[in-house]
Amino acid sequence: MTRSDWDDLPASEREAITNQYGQIKDIRPADSGNHADIASTVIGEHGTVFVKAARKLPEKDGPEVTSLRWEAKVNPFVNEFAPRLLRSTEVEGWLVLVFEHIPGRHPDYSPGSCDLDLVAKAVHLLQKTSPPAVVDRPVTMRWHGIGGDASPMSGQALLHTDINAKNVLITPEDAVYFVDWAFVSHGAPWVEMGQMIPWLLSAGHTPASAEKWLHQFPAWREADPTSIDQYARLHTAVWTRRHEMVSAEWIGPYLADVRRWASYRGVLE
Ligand SMILES: Nc1ncnc2c1ncn2[C@@H]1O[C@H](COP(=O)(O)OP(=O)(O)O)[C@@H](O)[C@H]1O
Ligand SMILES: [Mg+2]
Repeated sequence: MTRSDWDDLPASEREAITNQYGQIKDIRPADSGNHADIASTVIGEHGTVFVKAARKLPEKDGPEVTSLRWEAKVNPFVNEFAPRLLRSTEVEGWLVLVFEHIPGRHPDYSPGSCDLDLVAKAVHLLQKTSPPAVVDRPVTMRWHGIGGDASPMSGQALLHTDINAKNVLITPEDAVYFVDWAFVSHGAPWVEMGQMIPWLLSAGHTPASAEKWLHQFPAWREADPTSIDQYARLHTAVWTRRHEMVSAEWIGPYLADVRRWASYRGVLE
């Protein structure tokens, strides 16, 4: 999807942002991501913010707007490790979210990287956060319709579900932030770790070293191995199907890593 230009935003919203943060000196589109029509760092004379915006469809929200609504909903409950939502506006067919800008870099997930410890600390915190009632979307939804029992993945833990390195920022002070809460859900707490496995593999881990790293999380350690096997099975099935139906460059390598792990667990047919 191409990102629309800042100039596409409703004039009233651009004006409101300018009034608050000063004359715009620079606009830098994000280097990654594809869920919003606009995702840019906006540098004003008096402050820098991160703006995510999406166009509504004539009759309904559309996937980009739906993603932003989830981000807005969960934001007040995850302020410890998510950029604060400063402003949310619906105007002229747009949903515009203005976030605190986090100056930071993405973590290196490769084996032995010091960033892994920093990220682990934040994941521990996230796992301790009680799930707000507004997060009423079960993670099991994503494995419906492919056959197989998704109930081992059900639960009440708050799950980000997409902690890939591009959705994590580490500040110069080593504070860790998770961005992109588009897929926030509730489910079994260890599903968060499972979702990280393909990203650990793509950064150079073996399935064994990835699982060894995950062992530090009580939820992963205490999970029933047959539940994890079922997750590996269904996750492979879902991404195999998606690979057939959706053409996106990253899905092939992602699926290969999912399969590598599933094969390590001995659940591939
Ligand atoms: N609040 C923020 N401050 C600074 N950079 C951010 C912020 N939110 C997101 N980013 C950067 O923008 C990129 C895209 O944002 P993200 O929320 O992941 O959007 P998408 O839904 O398009 O993936 C992220 O990978 C991150 O590098
Ligand atoms: Mg993202």
